[in-house]
Amino acid sequence: MSDAQLASELLDTARETALAAADVIHERYDAPRMVYEKKPGDLVTDTDRLAQDAALSVIRKRHPGHSILAEEDSSNHRMNDDGSWIIPDGVTWTVDPIDGTSNFTTGLPFICVAIGAAVDGKAVAGVIYDPLRDEMFTGAAGQPTQLNGVDLPLLAERELRLSLASMGWAWNSSGSTNLIHAVQVLARNCLTIRALGSAALSMAYLAAGRVGLYMNLGLKPWDVGAAVPMIEGVGGEFRSPDGSPWRLGQPAFLAGHPATLDEAIRVLS
Ligand code: IPD
Ligand code: CA
Repeated sequence: MSDAQLASELLDTARETALAAADVIHERYDAPRMVYEKKPGDLVTDTDRLAQDAALSVIRKRHPGHSILAEEDSSNHRMNDDGSWIIPDGVTWTVDPIDGTSNFTTGLPFICVAIGAAVDGKAVAGVIYDPLRDEMFTGAAGQPTQLNGVDLPLLAERELRLSLASMGWAWNSSGSTNLIHAVQVLARNCLTIRALGSAALSMAYLAAGRVGLYMNLGLKPWDVGAAVPMIEGVGGEFRSPDGSPWRLGQPAFLAGHPATLDEAIRVLS
């Protein structure tokens, strides 16, 4: 099987997986939420867990030999000494049944299901599905990035000062300190900054041209894996905040059009 055929097959599974998780979210959306604190400030609900069960059953049935890194199953969460996440070789799925869990707990309607597939550590297919607006963003190596089956155009080059940036708050305190400094610098140099509460959906918006730059200094593979192929598919890039190449598993990065990234990294350095 060629790389393109594999990416296409993984994208099909990602679509079905995202829809299975979304069915659970729809069924339970109006019911009272059971909210648990995994660790201080890190929430999960009963719906996250049930949506993840539905997602994993699709992947396991279709691809019993593949590895899975799912947010609500910590058995496979392992880190390297440098603080990056270990992505197993072969095909690894990244599964976030609800990205934007804090939003979900209060009914703030900005959430998504994020399903990605990586091959030997490189993200090659991903689906980000907003069940509340019925918007499905898809990306796969060698295929156009799409929104609800319609090709998205390549990202337009835009100066940083005219770019709407989006970012996420890193929950760990050392990360927050760095982030606040970076936010201060960015705020002076871009149009405005939004923290929408779902990293994956923010990055799907980047692929769709609704956001001009995304920054997060503490993200996990299941938050970002699905977004990589769709942003790369419209000519965007991911870079570490110091400008060096970024790879899946590293928590800190910026994403956007290469020219916007050049400018952002220059002002941050
Ligand atoms: C969180 C969201 C948030 C980001 C956090 C993530 P979750 O994911 O994507 O935007 O800033 O770092 O942990 O917990 O809602 O799946
Ligand atoms: Ca989540």
